[in-house]
Amino acid sequence: TTGRVGLDIGFVNTASCESAITFIDGDEGILRYRGYPIDQLAEKSTFLETSYLLIYGELPTKEQLEEFTDNVTRHTMLHEEMKRFFAGFPREAHPMAVLSSGVSALSTFYQDSLDPFDEEQVHISTIRLLAKLPTIASYAHKTAIGQPMLYPDNDLGYVENFLRMTFGVPAEKYEVDPVVAKALDRLFILHADHEQNCSTSTVRLVGSSQANMFASISAGVNALFGPLHGGANQAVLEMLEDIQAEGTDPKKYMEKVKNKEDGVKLMGFGHRVYKNYDPRAAIVKKDVRAVLETMNKPDPLLDLAMGLEDIALKDDYFVERKLYPNVDFYTGLIYKAMGFPTEMFTVLFAIGRLPGWIAQWREMINDPKTKIGRPRQVYTGETERAYPSK
Ligand code: SDX
Repeated sequence: TTGRVGLDIGFVNTASCESAITFIDGDEGILRYRGYPIDQLAEKSTFLETSYLLIYGELPTKEQLEEFTDNVTRHTMLHEEMKRFFAGFPREAHPMAVLSSGVSALSTFYQDSLDPFDEEQVHISTIRLLAKLPTIASYAHKTAIGQPMLYPDNDLGYVENFLRMTFGVPAEKYEVDPVVAKALDRLFILHADHEQNCSTSTVRLVGSSQANMFASISAGVNALFGPLHGGANQAVLEMLEDIQAEGTDPKKYMEKVKNKEDGVKLMGFGHRVYKNYDPRAAIVKKDVRAVLETMNKPDPLLDLAMGLEDIALKDDYFVERKLYPNVDFYTGLIYKAMGFPTEMFTVLFAIGRLPGWIAQWREMINDPKTKIGRPRQVYTGETERAYPSK
C-alpha cells in the first residue's frame, strides 16, 4: 500500500506519499530525477535545465529553456525596501536563519500573488523564488562581513551572478572563474531533489495546509538547517578541522566514533535511505581533487577525509551498519576552496534544493493523491484516569 502511514493494520508503512519526481533505490545507490540518472544530468545538464525538468516534468526545448532562463534572470533583484531587512540582523547571524526569514519576508511584497491554486501566481512565485534566493543568500553573506551588497548583473548566468554578488565588491571588476562556476552548477544539480527527505517532507506538510509557496519553502529551509540534514556539510568541515587542529590520529578518532564517545558521529556518513554509497557523494569525490587542483588550492583535509573513508569502508562497525559517505562528506572541501565560509555551506545546499522543494510543493498542491496525510502516532501515554475529587 502506498500513500499513507498505515498504523491501523499493525505496521508502519514508511511510504508517506506518492510522487513522480525523484526515484531512489537506497540498496543499489540509484538516484533519478524524472527518470534521468543523476550522473547523466550532472555530466550533461545545467542547474536551470535540471530545475525546469524537476518542476515541469520534461527537459525543456531550447526555446523553453531560453524563456525560463530569461524569466529567472529578470527577477533576480530584490524590492528595494527588502534591503532594510538585512540590517535587522546581528553580524554573527547564521545565514540560514537570515535565508528562512528572508524567504518568508519576500512574500510580503507579493501579497496579491500567493494563491496556491492560481497557475499564473504559482508560476511567478516559482520564478521569483528561483531568481531571488541566491540574491538573499549573497546579501546575508555581505551583511555578515560588512561589505556592500551588489545588484545582480543580468549579463551573467545564474551561478555566475550569485558568485559575483557573493564575492564581488563595487571597487573592483569581478571575474568569474569558469571552473568554479561549472563546479558549483554541478553541485547544485546534485542537490536539486531527493524525494521525501526531512526538508522536502516539511515543505509538503506545511503546504498541505494550503500555506503559500514562500511560507512552505521557508519552513523547508529551517528543516535543512539541522546538522543531521543539510547542516552536515558544515559539520563535516568543522570535524575535519578539529581533527587536524588537535593532531588526532584518524584511527583514534574512529575509535571515539565507534564508542559513541560524547555522541560523536562521523559527519557526512550514513543515510536514512542509502545503505550503499550515495551516488552523489561518488560524483563529488571524483570531482573534488580535480577542482582543488584546477583552482590551485590543494587541501590536506581532503587526504584526511579520504583516509577516514578508507578506514570506515574496511571497519565492521560501519560495514555492518551500512554507513557510507553521503552527499555532505566531500562537498564542504570544494565550497571552502571556492572561498565560502563554513556558515554558507548549508545555504548552498538550500539554493540547490530549491527546485526540488518547488516541484514537490506544486505536485502536492495539484494532486491531492500525493499529499502527505496528517501523520498519526502510536500512543504510549497514560490510559484514561479520573481527576481527583478535592
Ligand atoms: C542529508 O534523507 C535525505 O535524503 C537527506 C539528504 C538529502 O539529500 O536531502 O540525503 C541529505 O541529510 C544527508 C545526511 C547528512 N547527515 C549526516 O551526515 C549526519 C551524520 N549521519 C547520521 O546522523 C545518520 O547517519 C543519519 C541521520 C543521516 C541517518 O541515520 P539512520 O540511517 O537512521 O541511522 P540511525 O541514526 O538509526 O543509526 C543506526 C546506527 C546507530 O548505531 P547503533 O545504535 O546501531 O549502535 O548507525 C549509527 C548509529 O549510532 N550511525 C552512525 C552514523 N550514522 C548512524 N555512527 C557514526 N557516524 C554516523 N554518521
